Amino acid sequence: MQVILAKTAGFCFGVRKAVEQVYEQIENREKDGKELPIYTYGPIIHNEEVVRDLEQRGVQVLNTKEELAALEKGIVIIRAHGVGREIYDLLDREGITVVDATCPFVKKIHRLVREQEALGRHIMITGNKNHPEVEAIRSCCQKEAIILETAAEAENFTLDSSIPVSIVSQTTFNYNKFEELVEIISKKGYDIIVLNTICNATQERQKEAAEIAREADAMIVIGGRHSSNTQKLYEICKKECKNTYYIQTLVDLDLDVLKSMGSVGITAGASTPNNIIEEVHTNVRRDEF
Ligand code: F3S
Repeated sequence: MQVILAKTAGFCFGVRKAVEQVYEQIENREKDGKELPIYTYGPIIHNEEVVRDLEQRGVQVLNTKEELAALEKGIVIIRAHGVGREIYDLLDREGITVVDATCPFVKKIHRLVREQEALGRHIMITGNKNHPEVEAIRSCCQKEAIILETAAEAENFTLDSSIPVSIVSQTTFNYNKFEELVEIISKKGYDIIVLNTICNATQERQKEAAEIAREADAMIVIGGRHSSNTQKLYEICKKECKNTYYIQTLVDLDLDVLKSMGSVGITAGASTPNNIIEEVHTNVRRDEF
């Protein structure tokens, strides 16, 4: 049996790096023997198992600015979405060490909006105004950025049409929606620069899964039952390969079913931790030759 593990299975690059940085901090603390508390501002990833594991290793999740403000000492890890200026300011004091795990693609947006504003352009962000990533991008702007999520909002916003506009997007915004909003804004006669900052980690994961499923005799999709991106991966794979199995962990997998298969593909949703993927991979490979 040939086993093909998708390169894009599981965490995207930014989230993987952020999670790794938390574990690194735990290791450093153990080496140093210092008892500095470690915190993440918000859960580092939307995966209960990972958050629980971190909690057991002494990493606490802080959810509010008030909790941050009350800290006297410790290491605070900023997650991949990034945070606004206000949070950096709040953490800039004695006793607090900041580990910035903001995804480099998100950091790039922060840099872009500052550069564009310095050129005298007004910033427009396509995305969900309540999402922490969008809040952080907004806080990098000197002037109040315009945030658009729907076609109606793009039709209705008001800004002097002589002001040049630069458009960026939340990294996980839907590309078709982004195009639709950009088209509406261009029709309104603005001088616009479009900076497509959508991250293609999700599309790449889906594309690779479809390619593997097309070739494989069986396909395994690993992820939480309620994870919508895993459900989507499953649908994509099922379309290409009728023997597609949706599992949460190795326990759900009937290894006997795979014995007659010539090739088996494995992929996983964005919040599936590496150890679960590895466990499945190792066990399926026992029958590989
Ligand atoms: Fe992930 Fe960074 Fe893209 S967090 S989805 S790699 S923007």
